[in-house]
Amino acid sequence: MAKTGIFGGAFDPLHDSHIAMAEKALSDGMDKIVFVPSGIPPHKSCNVSFEDRIEMLKKGLSDHDNFEISTIEYELGGTNYACDVIPLLKKKYGDIMYIIGGDSLIDLGKWKNPDKVIKLAPLYVFPRADRDEEFEKALSFWRAKGADVTVSDFEPKAVSSTCVRYLINMDKTDGIPKKVADYIMKKGLYRKFAGMAEKLKKEVLEKTYDHIARTCECALRLNFECGLCLDNDKVFLAAMLHDCAKLRSRQPHDASCVPADCVGSEVEHQFLGAVIAEKEYGVNDGEILSAIRSHCTGKPDMNAIEKLIFCADMLEDARDFQGVDRLRTLIREDFERGFVACLEKSYEYLVEKQCDIYPLTQQAVDYYQ
Ligand SMILES: [Fe+2]
Ligand SMILES: [Fe+2]
Repeated sequence: MAKTGIFGGAFDPLHDSHIAMAEKALSDGMDKIVFVPSGIPPHKSCNVSFEDRIEMLKKGLSDHDNFEISTIEYELGGTNYACDVIPLLKKKYGDIMYIIGGDSLIDLGKWKNPDKVIKLAPLYVFPRADRDEEFEKALSFWRAKGADVTVSDFEPKAVSSTCVRYLINMDKTDGIPKKVADYIMKKGLYRKFAGMAEKLKKEVLEKTYDHIARTCECALRLNFECGLCLDNDKVFLAAMLHDCAKLRSRQPHDASCVPADCVGSEVEHQFLGAVIAEKEYGVNDGEILSAIRSHCTGKPDMNAIEKLIFCADMLEDARDFQGVDRLRTLIREDFERGFVACLEKSYEYLVEKQCDIYPLTQQAVDYYQ
């Protein structure tokens, strides 16, 4: 086992899963781990400055022995590639091992000079959850080319930095080291939508607010895992505001802006929610508003974001109805089939409970059956 583990990434921001991975690498025999924040990541831009990412790393790693930070990529400036940076790191740290995630191993062929990279240093790879066929294929391919790859027996919890960043708006910082969270809050990082979230918090019950946060997380995750490529800001806003009228629809309110046949029913809050999102939260994107307006009932011929919010509302982590895990698996395999199965399941539930079926729900079911 090499002595120094090199752990590159955007760390935008550093979260607990990064630390768990580094600790695992240490326990597997590495002497220290050097975190190497990327200057400008080749495939994406960062949400905060390099200085802030460094500061968060310093704070988050301060209680850990054997963790170091290298600012080499910042000093080099511009866009850097592993094949150029690894030789410099070897010069400084000697015997190194290059730590990457399972997705990076799968994408290695797209890196600059991958054949050179695999000759430069042994790789230590964290597999994706359930080590799928794609991962195994990449593993044999690079090993056959001479790569020295160690596969960790630790599957890091699938935490996405994207989810972490958006949930900070809602004051949800679970999964981020406390000192990092304090820094983020003090400096107001990743807080573009915090004003809206603050208003929302006052408008709904605490349990609804928590359900909303989980729905946001589920929607952002499905957007990525199902390869929908929808704009994350839109996904977040639609999920964050989908139940904004949940409480208000049960209190005395002006119902002249919603269809007369929904007033007083369970589904009224979707119509009222879209009106409030527009008038009070200043949302003017038609897709976000229509996703809110159809999240309970569905409707015929839904677009991707409408389907996504409908499903995320149903599949968020705290839902535990019978069959929910099957739906979660199905939607990851096939988004369209997963969506139709969710729609059918919610219809079944309404029939079972002898609830009134709102006409739009019936139309949605007829359309998709
Ligand atoms: Fe709802
Ligand atoms: Fe909901």
